[in-house]
Amino acid sequence: MHNRRVLVVGAAGRLGAAIVDVFADREVIAHTRASLDITDPTAVIRAVERAAPAVVVNCAAFNDVDGAEDRPVEALATNAFGVRTLARAADAAGATLVHYGSDFVFDGTATAPYDEDASPSPMSTYAVSKLLGEWFALDAARGFVLRVESLFGGPRGSMGRRGSLDAIVEGLQQGRAVPVFTDRVVSPSYVDDIARATKHLIDSQAPPGVYHCVNSGCATWYEIAAEAARILGVTPRLEPITVDQVRLKARRPRFCALANGKLAAAGFAMPAWHDALRRWLARPEGGIRHDTMDRVHG
Ligand SMILES: NC(=O)c1ccc[n+]([C@@H]2O[C@H](COP(=O)([O-])OP(=O)(O)OC[C@H]3O[C@@H](n4cnc5c(N)ncnc54)[C@H](OP(=O)(O)O)[C@@H]3O)[C@@H](O)[C@H]2O)c1
Repeated sequence: MHNRRVLVVGAAGRLGAAIVDVFADREVIAHTRASLDITDPTAVIRAVERAAPAVVVNCAAFNDVDGAEDRPVEALATNAFGVRTLARAADAAGATLVHYGSDFVFDGTATAPYDEDASPSPMSTYAVSKLLGEWFALDAARGFVLRVESLFGGPRGSMGRRGSLDAIVEGLQQGRAVPVFTDRVVSPSYVDDIARATKHLIDSQAPPGVYHCVNSGCATWYEIAAEAARILGVTPRLEPITVDQVRLKARRPRFCALANGKLAAAGFAMPAWHDALRRWLARPEGGIRHDTMDRVHG
C-alpha cells in the first residue's frame, strides 16, 4: 500500500499539535522533545529510519528570540543544525521534509508585503539561526520551507507556550490595560490554517521550495488587538506603544507582512487574518485542545 506515514517532531508545540490533528486521516508518529531531541543526530537518524515515513514535518524550534542572544549555540543547534540532520535523515528515507521559517529573516524595511524572492537580511541571532535552518531544509531532495509568523491557535494558557495574541486576549478578557505596538506590522497566522496549507502542498505534490504561509492581509498589533476586542464584544483598554519605547535584547523587524501569492498559485488560498481570528475565538474551548494533546505520544 502507498506509504502515507507522517513523522512530526516538536509535536507538543503550538503548530505541532495542529499538524498532528490535520493528519489524523493517516498514520502519524508524533515526537515531543522528550522522545526525540533534534539536536541528537544519532537519535534522529534512527527514529526516521525506524518510522520510514513519507513525510517528516519539523515543528521543533528554539523560539526565544531574546534568549537566543545569550544562548546562540542552543539556538543554532535546534534551528539550524537540527534541521540539517532532519534533511539528511529525510533524504536517506526517501521522505519529503517540511520545515517552518520565520518572517524575522527580513529586516522589516520594506513597505509592501515580502514575497519569496525578497532578499533575507536577519537582524538577530534567532533570525540568523532560522535562515540557516531554511537553507539546510532546502538541501533536502524534497524540502519545503513554509515561512510563518505571529502564530495563534493551538494549546494555550497552562497547556502551551503563550504567544502575543494569547496575552492580548487574556488582557482584554480581564479588562486590563493591554500594551500593543502601533509600529509593528504583521500577518498573523492561525496554526489550523497553516496545518491545512501544509497538507495541501504535500497531497497536491506541489514543487518543493519556499512558500509564505500566513493568513492574508496585515495589520499593526494595535489593529489586531482592537479587532479581537470587537469579536469578543469587550471594551478594550489598549495602550499604544512603539518598538523604540521597549528595551528588548534582539532587534525586531517593524514591517513583517508576507505575501502568500505563491501558495495561492499552488491551489491554497489562506483566509484573511480577521476571519482566522474570529474562528479561533469562537472555539467553545477557547482555543485549548485537550483532544489533540491526548493523541500526542512518544
Ligand atoms: N510562534 C511564532 O509566532 C512563530 C513565528 C515565526 C516562526 N515560527 C516558527 O514556526 C514553527 C512552530 O513554532 P511554534 O510556535 O509552534 O513553536 P513552539 O510552540 O515553541 O513549539 C516548539 C516545540 O519544539 C520543541 N523543541 C525545542 N527544541 C527542541 C529540540 N531540540 N528537539 C525537539 N523538540 C524541540 C519545544 O519543546 P520545549 O517546549 O520542551 O522546549 C516545543 O514543544 C517553528 O519553526 C517556529 O520557529 C513561529
